[in-house]
Amino acid sequence: MRILFITHSFNGLTQRLYCELMRLGHEISIEFDIADAVTEEAVRLFRPELIIAPFLKRAIPESIWSQHCCLIVHPGPVGDRGPSALDWAIQDGAAEWGVSVLQAEAEMDAGPVWASATFPMRRARKASIYRHEVTEAAVQAVISAVNRKKEPNFKSARVPGQAHQVMKQADRTIDWQRDSSASVLARLNAADGFPGVADSLFGQPCHLFDAWPEATLRGEPGSLIGRRETAICRATVDGAVWIGHVKPAGGIKLPATLAFPAAADLPELPLADVWKSPTPTWQDIAYEEAGGVGFLTFEFYNGAMRTAQCRRLTDAFRWATARPTRVIVLRGGSDFWSNGIHLNTIEAADSPADESWANINAIDDLAEAILRCETQLTVAAVGGNAGAGGCFLARAADFVWVRDGVMLNPHYKNMGNLYGSEFWTYLLPPRVGDEGAKAIMRHRLPMTAPESVQLGFYDACLPGPGFAIDVARRAAEIAAAADFPDKLAAKVAKRHADEAVKPLSAYRAEELAEMRRNFYGFDPSYHVARYHFVSRSAHSWTPRHLARHRDLDWKVPA
Ligand code: COA
Repeated sequence: MRILFITHSFNGLTQRLYCELMRLGHEISIEFDIADAVTEEAVRLFRPELIIAPFLKRAIPESIWSQHCCLIVHPGPVGDRGPSALDWAIQDGAAEWGVSVLQAEAEMDAGPVWASATFPMRRARKASIYRHEVTEAAVQAVISAVNRKKEPNFKSARVPGQAHQVMKQADRTIDWQRDSSASVLARLNAADGFPGVADSLFGQPCHLFDAWPEATLRGEPGSLIGRRETAICRATVDGAVWIGHVKPAGGIKLPATLAFPAAADLPELPLADVWKSPTPTWQDIAYEEAGGVGFLTFEFYNGAMRTAQCRRLTDAFRWATARPTRVIVLRGGSDFWSNGIHLNTIEAADSPADESWANINAIDDLAEAILRCETQLTVAAVGGNAGAGGCFLARAADFVWVRDGVMLNPHYKNMGNLYGSEFWTYLLPPRVGDEGAKAIMRHRLPMTAPESVQLGFYDACLPGPGFAIDVARRAAEIAAAADFPDKLAAKVAKRHADEAVKPLSAYRAEELAEMRRNFYGFDPSYHVARYHFVSRSAHSWTPRHLARHRDLDWKVPA
């Protein structure tokens, strides 16, 4: 079927639907929702048999829904209508939620239901529920709806419903003198990653994001108890919570202490060490051990790895290599494994070029430490999405196991034609061939977990449910295997042989020479693209690699 996506952006959910429907043989083109006239033009050019709106922020124009079947992906169960659907569900503590696929009509989300799916709610951030449960349910419901489009006898059902209002900041306000930690966390979770909860810190207005529970620290309700790395701990009436990120008025989202230099005066509340804390608290890097396997988790907000985080993670990794284990599993974070260098802290630096340089060197140091590890076999367990340098950082491990459902974007070009580093020129060609590597880099499109394994880029795709348990079991098997010493020796020998042919330092120097041009050269594309990315600038056109109907050789179907 020829299907046109009308969407606000090519976000993770849209990427996943795009890949799943392409895999089923459908022909997909994408138009960003910029202006009614532009959308109408896209429909004229592509002549879709079906229009799907995976992620829209406003209604489809009547000129389109009255002429074509338009299906809206609504992040709420059957009968739920209106904006801020997930926000209300999280803040009100709904036990079960869902996704419905509705036909567009005049009244928002009130059209007939074509398909739906439900899931039990998890206590988590909105963006996390969206990336996991909502995305899985949407894939299921959209595929059913698309199949039903071909069923001549299918009749979509009209269902009565209640429309809720857009959630305003007044609905999100935290009363630090009265609200419990659970209520504060629910409010912050319901607003993460957008729009955050409007509040103030150090007497300045800001929006709060990235909340973590705290089990033991206490203070005067509303007072700032202290800081750890870049997070700030704030007391509630019955405990405390950590605030990891803030967006100061008029600024961009940043780690909390970087946004407010006054935070330097707060007492530092360090953790004893890298071992996972037994009680809930803010801990971005955590280590655990079981059955000869060390597990290193790095829960970096949005998968962005700033210079200091890369250095701390490299230290933690080196420390882990000195433990009496046979395998180290790099677990990343729950939503993202890694999205590469931290574009927001780069943007906020006095010299973004210098900070880009420091950050890419710090992430390369980490990749090099993983590549040069001679004491353990290493596994990257990619349970969350990964983008750009994060995809290649994972490949530095001896094995990469990826969760089915993860979306990968193993290319850099969307960020102002960045060349990229993280040893991709060493790691990618042997897996996919020179032409394959060029195609991946040029392609600029997302890749599903099964595709990454089919291409030979990653090693295994494991089922979504039970991924963590499966990873632990497989890693323990490698550690316990009789041939472990042979496998380790073979890896070390291979690395030495590769080094003799061309040292890692040469790959790194070549990649960084290109990156230096991106950061300091005449062409400002990277700086411009980064500015728009971190400012979340609205799109003013759809990139040609997505809008196939705008290809020069596109022929309007008869
Ligand atoms: N640095 C800082 N923030 C980043 C980031 C990075 N490298 N990568 C993603 N983010 C943030 C986004 O700004 C967004 O922030 P929000 O919480 O304010 O919404 C959040 O992570 C989610 O990203 P989003 O783009 O909405 O997710 P997606 O699933 O639609 O797309 C990617 C995923 C990886 C394709 C996209 O985030 C991306 O292109 N990231 C940049 C990758 C990159 O170029 N890294 C630098 C080169 S190594």
